[in-house]
Amino acid sequence: MDSCIRGVLFDFHGVSMTHYFTDNWENVQNFQARPDDILIATYPKAGTTWTSYILDLLYFGQTWQERQATVPIFDRVPFLEITWPSMGSGKDVADNLPTSPRLIKTHFPVQFVPKSFFEQNCRIVYVARNAKDNVVSFFHFDRMNRIEPEPGDWNSYLKRFMQGKMVFGSWYDHVSNWWKKKQTYSNLHYMFFEDMVEDTGREIDKLCSFLGLTPSAEEKERVTGGVQFDNMKKDGMANYSTNIVMDFKVSPFMRKGKVGDWKNHFTVAQNEEFDEDYKTKMKDPTLQFRTEI
Ligand code: A3P
Repeated sequence: MDSCIRGVLFDFHGVSMTHYFTDNWENVQNFQARPDDILIATYPKAGTTWTSYILDLLYFGQTWQERQATVPIFDRVPFLEITWPSMGSGKDVADNLPTSPRLIKTHFPVQFVPKSFFEQNCRIVYVARNAKDNVVSFFHFDRMNRIEPEPGDWNSYLKRFMQGKMVFGSWYDHVSNWWKKKQTYSNLHYMFFEDMVEDTGREIDKLCSFLGLTPSAEEKERVTGGVQFDNMKKDGMANYSTNIVMDFKVSPFMRKGKVGDWKNHFTVAQNEEFDEDYKTKMKDPTLQFRTEI
């Protein structure tokens, strides 16, 4: 797609960003949240689409089936901070969402989130994924997404990840600062990708209890089944196949969906260096990730 130009990273209030996510800054900061809005917040590649799909099915799966069949998940759950000339801004889409509640996605670090979400005491679902699988997934995504910065080779990419020079900044800061936010903001549900892979049904139960939803056993079964990796991968409304900036010849969006794929990418030396560096950055013993299940 000729009109896709890879973004270039620059420092934005101390966070590496590309212009696609900062051009609409003022409008995004002034976004007026409603009390029943639900914000899905993640570092990129932590399971945003999966969680969006779960929430969308829980809320609208039974009542709005036509939408399920015709509207891609990235339009049902708009990406608040994105601006894209031919698509308009995620903020405009969010403003005009016909649903109630509105489900809205962001990759912002917590300090960038528009204040009104907190003022309105909106429910926020944060999903985190272990750093090793997260960086592998991000690498393949940056290869196939034509508005992401050029990924370069794997070794330099991994170094850049460790330095926090990725779109939306440092993984270490992102997951840690959202974790800290949970201590003071009670309407935040912090989930882990690894737990979702291990037992999707259990995690959906926890989500429902956070959201105050009580689906029937049959309905829960339908949602749990619908969001399994293989089903989402072949679902044209969930697998991003209609998204024009992605080159599926390079890598699929629904790539592997596994815990531990990092072992196929990290060399022994890279792994040792990564672990050493990780210890210096992740000091909070209460925030623990699993790199295998
Ligand atoms: P991989 O690249 O490791 O396969 P995001 O939606 O935040 O961009 O995250 C994308 C990652 O979530 C990809 O990881 C994708 O395959 C994985 N994913 C999406 N839906 C999934 C599902 N239903 N089950 C397991 N993993 C899923």
